[in-house]
Parts: sequence; C-alpha cells; structure tokens
Amino acid sequence: MCSTFGERLKISIFGESHSESIGVTIEGFPCGFPVDEEKLAAFMARRAPGRDEFSTPRKEADKVVFLSGLTDGATNGETIKAVIYNQNTKPKDYSSIADTPRPGHADYTAKMKYGEDYSVTGGGHFSGRLTAPLCIAGGICMQWLETKGITVGAHIASVHGVEDKRFDSVNISAEELNMLKEKDFCCIDDTAAEKMKDEIRKARKSLNSVGGTVECAVAGLPAGIGEHMFDGIENRISLITFGIPAVKGIEFGAGFAASDMYGSENNDEFYYDENGCVRTRTNNCGGILGGISNAMPVIFRVAFKPTPSIAQTQNTISFETKENTVINIGGRHDPCIVQRAVPCVEAAAAVAIADLMLKD
Ligand SMILES: Cc1cc2nc3c(=O)[nH]c(=O)nc-3n(C[C@H](O)[C@H](O)[C@H](O)COP(=O)(O)O)c2cc1C
Repeated sequence: MCSTFGERLKISIFGESHSESIGVTIEGFPCGFPVDEEKLAAFMARRAPGRDEFSTPRKEADKVVFLSGLTDGATNGETIKAVIYNQNTKPKDYSSIADTPRPGHADYTAKMKYGEDYSVTGGGHFSGRLTAPLCIAGGICMQWLETKGITVGAHIASVHGVEDKRFDSVNISAEELNMLKEKDFCCIDDTAAEKMKDEIRKARKSLNSVGGTVECAVAGLPAGIGEHMFDGIENRISLITFGIPAVKGIEFGAGFAASDMYGSENNDEFYYDENGCVRTRTNNCGGILGGISNAMPVIFRVAFKPTPSIAQTQNTISFETKENTVINIGGRHDPCIVQRAVPCVEAAAAVAIADLMLKD
C-alpha cells in the first residue's frame, strides 16, 4: 500500500507501523538543492516517539537514510527515496486483538475494504507512524521554502479545552515561528502549556486520552499562489492534512466563527503600507481569497480527536464468533497526539505549498 499526494511535486509514502522500514519517494523536487540533514534530523526529532512523558514509550530514533536522489548532499533531479528503519517493533502486542477491531481505529474499515488478511498490527499503513515519512518530505520542503523567504510554523492551540494564545494573524514573523520550534511542548503561552500537560496527565491517570487543536501559519508567502476552484490553497492543504491520522477538522482564518459575523466585520479591508505593499488590517480570510494567496499569513487550525487506544475495557465485536465482546488494548500509545502532531501539520502545509509553487 502506498499513499500519494501532489501534482508537480509528488510524494508517495510507503510502509507500515511494524514493517522493516517506512519511507517516502519525492518526485519533481528542484535539482541542485542542498539538503541540510542535521536540520532535517532536528525536525524529525520533534515528531519522534518516546521523547517525553506524554508520548508513547515506543522508542524510535527516526534516522533518515537517503537511498537515492542526493549527490554530495544536494538533490540531483532523480526521485528522492528516503527510509527510516523501524527498530522497536512489537507485533505481538497486537496478536490478541486481530479478531476484535479497536474502536476509533481503522481495523474494522480496513478489513471491510482489503479483506480478512489485512494486517492491523500497530495500525498497519493507517498508523500515526506514517507521519514520519511525511515529515521527511515536509522537512525538505520547509528548507526549500525558507530559501524563498517563506516560513511554516505551528503551535498547540488547545488540549481538551485548555487554550493557548492565538497567532497574531496579521503580524507573524519567521522569528516567532522558529522560536516555537525550540520548545518541547510548543505553546505560545507557557502557563497554558502547563495546564494542558495537567489535562493529559489527568486523562492518562483515568486510563483515558484527550484531543486538541494545532494552529499553523505560513509567513512570507507572496500573493498569487494557488489555483481556482478545486486546487486552491485551502483544498490542497486540507487534502494532505486529512492524511494525518486522527485529524477530524480544519478551518482557515476566522473559520467557523466567520459564519456568525457581519460582512463588515469579516471582510479584510485593503491598504498600501509604508513600503507600497498591499496588506489587510485583519486576516479573517487566513491569507487566502478564491483559493489564491493574498500575501498575508496563511493561517489554519486543525482538530485532532483523542487518541483512540485507551487502557479502559471497551465494547467491540469478534469477527470469528460473530458475537459482541470486549477489548483491552495493550501496546504503547500517546495519551494525547496533539503535541507530536505539530510538526506533522507543518510538514503537510510545506508539501502542499511547495507543490503549488512549483506548479506556477
Ligand atoms: C503522530 C501521531 C501519533 C499517533 N499515535 C497513536 C497512538 O499511540 N495510539 C493510537 O491509538 N492512535 C495514535 N494515533 C492516531 C491513529 O493512528 C488514528 O486515530 C487511527 O489510525 C485511525 O485513523 P483516523 O483517526 O484518521 O480515522 C496517532 C496519530 C498521529 C498523527
């Protein structure tokens, strides 16, 4: 199984949670671009499991190995193929639940689509682990976008109702976005971060899990990127972002709140700034009009559901006996996905924007 995104820049992600390796092929990336592998490793580390008390204890180094596409560290115009060798697989953790689909997972639907033999071990190709190859592609795209003055960054906007400060949607600097990347639990407001951590600890103690939202910004994007109707920035970012497991919603700019505003409140009025650049005083449209960038920051928020694997006994069915039964899920799981999903959202945005830029 392979998951593909992109037109001019095409990424294909392959592998499973417990296969020997997972990886990505990237076609159409500009030739001669020097990939900073140290920077990429730092980006990968932000998503990697087992880093703190809030993520799954499954430890994976997530070291990226380039099999093709680079010569002396620079892209050579051929397909880039990069893999991560899984090191800490424990398929036995899943053998007892093969017959009983886990609530909130793709076990049931995958069997309906691919048949009885589909391996659900660790979620197979549906696992959150497959966001590691997404981050390889996204990390490289972020480096490329930076050379064009475009910075992608995100923060944990909420966990189980505890909210961080929002980005200032009119004035987001590359410095602010990059500073957030240095934080282990990346909120703008450190007090909110502590409250969120308490929520996660509380959930884990009660054998439960929590969800939340990630807010992402793309700063420095020039006006005129994106296409009409089906290939707008919102369309492309949404398509790739819903590829991140556990994503259940997305909103751009003022999003759903815009539906409660008057037109006079929601419209972002134009003006020339002191440098003669066209700007808007508000950014309710999230930097996108008609699917095309207007040079204000692109802003979107992504909703993540609570981690489906919880330590409580849950009701399910047995495929074999065709009876109702219960399930107790072993294995190793994040009590909250949101903090590890932050770089995944950045990666998704970077790939979508790079693809649109290369199309123009
Ligand atoms: C970075 C990341 C890590 C994840 N880790 C876990 C986990 O440890 N346990 C779990 O049950 N789900 C985890 N998930 C979510 C599941 O993979 C996902 O909910 C499941 O495959 C069903 O897909 P759906 O929620 O998109 O329908 C993770 C998701 C992401 C993005």
